[in-house]
Amino acid sequence: MKSATSPDEPAKRATIRGPAGKREEVEAGKEAKETKEKRMAKIRTSFVCQTCGAVAPRWQGRCDACGSWNSLVEETIGAPTHGGKGRIFALSDLAAPTVAPPRITTGIGEFDRVTGGGFVPGSVLLLGGEPGIGKSTLLIQVCGALARRRQRIVYISGEEAIDQVRLRAERLGLTEAGIEFAAETKVEDIVATLRDDVPALLVIDSIQTMWTQTVEAAPGTVTQVRGAAQALIRYAKTTGASVILVGHVTKDGQIAGPRVVEHMVDAVTSFDGEGGRDFRILRALKNRFGPGNEIGVFEMTGRGLAEVGNPSALFLSGHAESTPGIAVFAGIEGTRPLLTEIEALTAPSPLGMPRRAVVGWDQNRLAMVIAVLEARAGLRLGQHDVFLNIAGGLRINEPAADLAAAAALVSSFTGRSLPAHSVFFGEIGLSGAIRPVPHSATRLKEAAKLGFTRAIVPSASQEPREARPENMTLKACSDVADLVALIAGGRREGP
Ligand code: TYD
Ligand code: MG
Repeated sequence: MKSATSPDEPAKRATIRGPAGKREEVEAGKEAKETKEKRMAKIRTSFVCQTCGAVAPRWQGRCDACGSWNSLVEETIGAPTHGGKGRIFALSDLAAPTVAPPRITTGIGEFDRVTGGGFVPGSVLLLGGEPGIGKSTLLIQVCGALARRRQRIVYISGEEAIDQVRLRAERLGLTEAGIEFAAETKVEDIVATLRDDVPALLVIDSIQTMWTQTVEAAPGTVTQVRGAAQALIRYAKTTGASVILVGHVTKDGQIAGPRVVEHMVDAVTSFDGEGGRDFRILRALKNRFGPGNEIGVFEMTGRGLAEVGNPSALFLSGHAESTPGIAVFAGIEGTRPLLTEIEALTAPSPLGMPRRAVVGWDQNRLAMVIAVLEARAGLRLGQHDVFLNIAGGLRINEPAADLAAAAALVSSFTGRSLPAHSVFFGEIGLSGAIRPVPHSATRLKEAAKLGFTRAIVPSASQEPREARPENMTLKACSDVADLVALIAGGRREGP
C-alpha cells in the first residue's frame, strides 16, 4: 500500500485504508482540521456597508457607522500578504530639489482651471455628478481637445455601447479627432491591453461599472469599486498615464459607493447644475496638485458644452434694482470673483413654528443671521416665514455672503429695495459686528466691470479704500444696525 503512506498524497489517506487503517483515519482527520483552520485564518468574510464602506463582523439590519438600513453585504477578504525582508525601497530627503509637475492642458479654459492648470501625468481624477448632467459629454470633449493636440487618448465606456458613444461624438463633431475607444468593464483586461501602449489620458466611464477578478463581490459593490479603483490608480502611478474616473452620485450628493475612492485619488471634482437650466458647474473639491476650490462654468447647448467666460453676467437677473428682497453678493469662487443674487422673502406666518427654507446656502448660517438681526437690530422675524435662495442654483459657502443675505432679508422685511447698482460683502459676527473678508479688491473690480457703482462693505477693512476702482462709491457698515438704518432710509416700493 505504497500510495496510502506516501507523504506526497495526504488527501488520499482518508479514503484508502491500509493495514493500520484506523490510526491513519484519525491522522487524516487531524490534518483536515488543521488545513481548515489555516484556510479560515486566510480568508475572512465580513459585511461591508454599501453606503459608507464601514465593515462589520456580522450581518445587521442597520449600519452602525452611517445608520442606513439594509445596506450590509457579505464580502470575502483575502489574507494580507507579508512583504519581503531587507531594504526594498530607498528613503529620500525632503530637502531634495523638486520639479514642478509637467501639465497636459486641454485648451478648454474652464476645465484646465479646475484641474489646476492641466492634468499631471500619473495622477487620478474622480469626476462625480448625477446621471444625465453631462459627464460623458464633458469628457468626450476633453478627450477630443487633447487628441487634436496629438496626445494619445483612450476612452473606456462600461455603460454605453460603441454606437451610443459614436453618436455622441458625431453630434459633437469629434469622430475624426482620433480618440481610441472600447466598451469594457474588466479592469485586468483594460490594464493588460494598455500596459505597454500607455495613453496620455485614460477615461473610465464609470467606475461603478468596473470590476476586478481579485475581489469576490458583485460589480457595483463598495468592495468592487474600491478594488477596481485601486488597480487603475496603480496603473496610473506605474505607467505615468493620467486617469479620469467617472463616478455617479446619489440623490443626497454622495459619490455613490466611491466615498472610499475619494481618499485614494489625487483630485475630486463634481459636475452639477440646476434641473431645467442649461448651465453646469464643474467644481474642484480636492486637488493634490492645485487649488481645491476652483469652479468652471459651462452651458449645455445642442452641440455639447460651451465655456461660459463671464459667469457673473449669467447669475444676475437685473431685477435687484427694483424688487425688495434681492441683494447682489460679490463673492469669490476659488480664485475667481463671481457676482450672484441672493433672494429673500419674509411673510407673516400662519404656523406656530414659522418656516425657514434655504436653497444654496447653509441653514445654520441663515438661522444665525436671523437671530443676530433680531437681537442686535430689533428686526422682529420671529413670527415670519423666511425663504432664502441663491439665484441660478449656485451653492455659496463663503461667510462673506452674510451681509448680502442680511441685506436681502431686511429689504424684504421692510419692503424697501436696496440702493441701486450696489453689491454687498462682509461677514456678520454674533455681536452684530460686520467683519472684513479677504479679496476685497478682486470683488470690487468684478463689480465695477459689470456696471455696479456702489459697494456696501465692512467698515473695519482698510483694503477696499485703497483698492477702490474708479466710479465706485464705498459705504462702510460697522454693524447690522447700520445696515438696517441704511436700508430703512431707502426707497419704499408698493403700497
Ligand atoms: P451625458 O453626458 O450622457 O450625461 P452623463 O454622462 O452625466 O450621464 O449627457 C446627457 C444629457 O446631455 C442628455 O440629456 C442630452 C444632453 N446633451 C445635450 O443637450 N447636448 C449635447 O450636445 C449632448 C451630447 C448631450
Ligand atoms: Mg455617462
